Parts: sequence; C-alpha cells; structure tokens
Amino acid sequence: MTEKSLANLIPPHGGTLRKRLAAGPNAPELKKYAQSLPRLELTPREISDLEMLGDGALSPLEGFMTRADYLSVVDTMRLGSGLPWTIPITLSVSKGEAQKISEGKDAALADSDGKVLAVMRVSEIFAYDKEHEAKEVYRTTHEIHPGVDHLFRWMKELLIGGSVTVLLNPPHADFLQYRLTPEDTRRVFQEKGWKRIVGFQTRNPIHRAHEYLQKAALEVVDGLLIHPIVGATKSDDIPAEVRMKCYESLIGGYFPKDRVVLAVNPAAMRYAGPREAIFHAIIRKNYGCSHFIVGRDHAGVGNYYGTYDAHKIFDEFTPAELGITPLFFDHAFFCKPCEGMATAKTCPHGNEDHVILSGTAVRQMLSEGKVPPQEFTRPEVAKILIDWMKTKTAVTA
Ligand code: ADX
Repeated sequence: MTEKSLANLIPPHGGTLRKRLAAGPNAPELKKYAQSLPRLELTPREISDLEMLGDGALSPLEGFMTRADYLSVVDTMRLGSGLPWTIPITLSVSKGEAQKISEGKDAALADSDGKVLAVMRVSEIFAYDKEHEAKEVYRTTHEIHPGVDHLFRWMKELLIGGSVTVLLNPPHADFLQYRLTPEDTRRVFQEKGWKRIVGFQTRNPIHRAHEYLQKAALEVVDGLLIHPIVGATKSDDIPAEVRMKCYESLIGGYFPKDRVVLAVNPAAMRYAGPREAIFHAIIRKNYGCSHFIVGRDHAGVGNYYGTYDAHKIFDEFTPAELGITPLFFDHAFFCKPCEGMATAKTCPHGNEDHVILSGTAVRQMLSEGKVPPQEFTRPEVAKILIDWMKTKTAVTA
C-alpha cells in the first residue's frame, strides 16, 4: 500500500504508522539472537500492547514508555513531544527481574509459555508512584476499581522503557478473519471508497442504544467500523466470543453489509472512563477512522465518572491535535410515545415513557431465560445471550 493510495484517509497519530514488526532479511537472525537474551514474561495486557506496537495501532509509540513520556502522560495527558496521549503504555518488572537486564542492552519479551515474542532495547529501568498514577489516570485510588486493582495488584515494582521489535504476533486461535491491522482496515476503507469512517468501541453485547448510535452516525459518514475490544476485560464482562456472535447476528439482520466493517481490537480494557475515551479515539484514528462515537459513561465502571465526563475531556485538546472527530451522544433509550430510539435531545417525554434497564436487571432476566423487551435488545441477540447463560449455568452447576 503506497502513501499515495492512503491519501484520502486520516493520517495516523503523529503522522505515520510506526510498525514495530520485524521484517526483511534480518528477521530470522534476530529470532536466533533473541534466544540468547535474558527473558521477561509479559502479562496478557502487556502482550496486547505489544501486538499493537507491532502493527502500528499505538503509533507513534515505538515501545513501552520511558520515564519522561510516562510522567508526561500521567501528569499532562501528553507525550513528552506534546502529542495528546492519555493512558500509560508500560511494562513492569520485579526487582529480581530488573537484575537480569541492563539499561542500554536488549531483553527478550516472552509469553507465559516461554515463547519469545519480541526484542526490547531497554533504555531505562525506573521506579514509579502507583498511587499517583491511580489518582491521575483513574481519578481514584479505590482498589475495587478494576483499573486500579490491576495497577496495585498485578503491576510489579519497576517499569522498563524502550523500543521493541516484535518477532512473532501472539498466537491467536480465535476471530482470525476479524483480526485486521491498521494497514488492513485502511486498505479495506480505501477499497470501499470510504473517506469518512466512524469507529465504535465496545466491550458489551450490542443493544438497541448501541445500534441507534451507530446508525445515527452512519447517516453522516461513509462507513462504520465496529471494533469490539477482545483483550483482557474484567471477569464479569461477557466473553468476547459471545459478544462477537451478537454482532454477527445483528449486522446480518439489521445493517446494510456494504456500510459496516466488523473487526476486533486486541486492546485490554482499562476502565479509565474519560482518559480512555481519548485513548480509544486515538487508536481508532490509527486504524483509519475519521470519527469516533462517545456515548454515555464511555469506558466507565461503577459510579467513578460523571455520565458525560468522557465528552468534557475532549475540550482539553484542540481538534487539530487530536485529528479524529468525536461524535458525542447523550444517553439513548426507546421512547414509547415517540415509537423509536431517542435521547433527551430529541424526545420531550419523561422517564416513565422510556424503556431503560440497568445492566444488572438485564443479566438477571437473561439468567432466568427471560427475553428482555425488544425495545431494549433485539430478540436474536437476547437468544445468543440466554443460550450462553444456560451453558454457563450448566458448567457451574
Ligand atoms: S465501553 O466501556 O466500551 O464504553 P459499552 O460497550 O457499553 O462500554 O459502550 C460502547 C459505546 O456505547 C460507548 O461509547 C458508550 O458510551 C456508548 N453507550 C452505551 N450505552 C449507551 C446508551 N444507553 N446511550 C448512549 N450511549 C451508550
């Protein structure tokens, strides 16, 4: 794919796709060399980040953050260069592991089976303040918050920063036809002749409000990228394979196929609410999206963030420095007198006329085999979820 053929699409964050996947005649040599290096075992989240460094989804990053970028991101929501970036991309090691490696030298990054995935040039090993990161990035130090829990419980004492060269993508057995890299999605958009593409982030099964947002956005752009996250999510989120079935079924029945691309996003969820909304938008920009949907409590969890904090945070950046255009949506619901989906911006009726169900209420209904109202979820999607609940109950019974 030439630079010219991509001219119609939004440029990646920072200007160019920085792919860190080893290619060319030196790759086999590098693989051999990697076997001789001290080895660090990565967590699933770090492996997701590594994969996205490899294919350019985290452009302009070329590796795990060094101290200057890390502190700048935590304190100012920008990389040291000034470019917007809101979530630390870090690799943590224990003090024992740190003794095996040295600044200025290479280390091998491996998965839990010992398979070497990348070579890292370790430029810095540094201490960091977890409390401070939690306060700034998650806006709480409450350990029940899943992002804070991960930071406090799973991240080790030190961080190491430096560029990576990915030798092998993490071996995946699932969603193979949906694993599109930023280059792949950009090529697909180009082939379809799309210029204005809206990205949709999700970690949940699709319900009518999601569908409404997507279709409202589709009215004003050329195409839609439905881009569910399939990296690590919290244990009570619905597994990615079930969510993907819901998407396949919904696209099959309710969307014009030539206006939608379904692909998976390997990122892990952080549940960092507003900061993660910016991060999600930047990633989708790298995949070629010109627009990005931000609805109610985007990437939020519990009551940690205000319903529209993820809208307000966009005011802290200029449209030019973000590049991608957010499309903000208020809380959407089905309104009985309006006989359709709406928000407070378009509907004059009161709550009593709206079909609004909490996540807990829906889960309860599904676990009892009850189909939620079709104003809330399409029956095809409800069936997939009920069937999954049944297998879950059968396994745990
Ligand atoms: S998220 O963690 O990925 O944000 P989810 O998959 O539920 O969670 O949401 C995907 C997108 O849809 C987010 O932009 C979110 O803000 C938006 N969204 C979810 N439900 C609604 C709703 N009822 N009204 C408006 N926006 C919503």
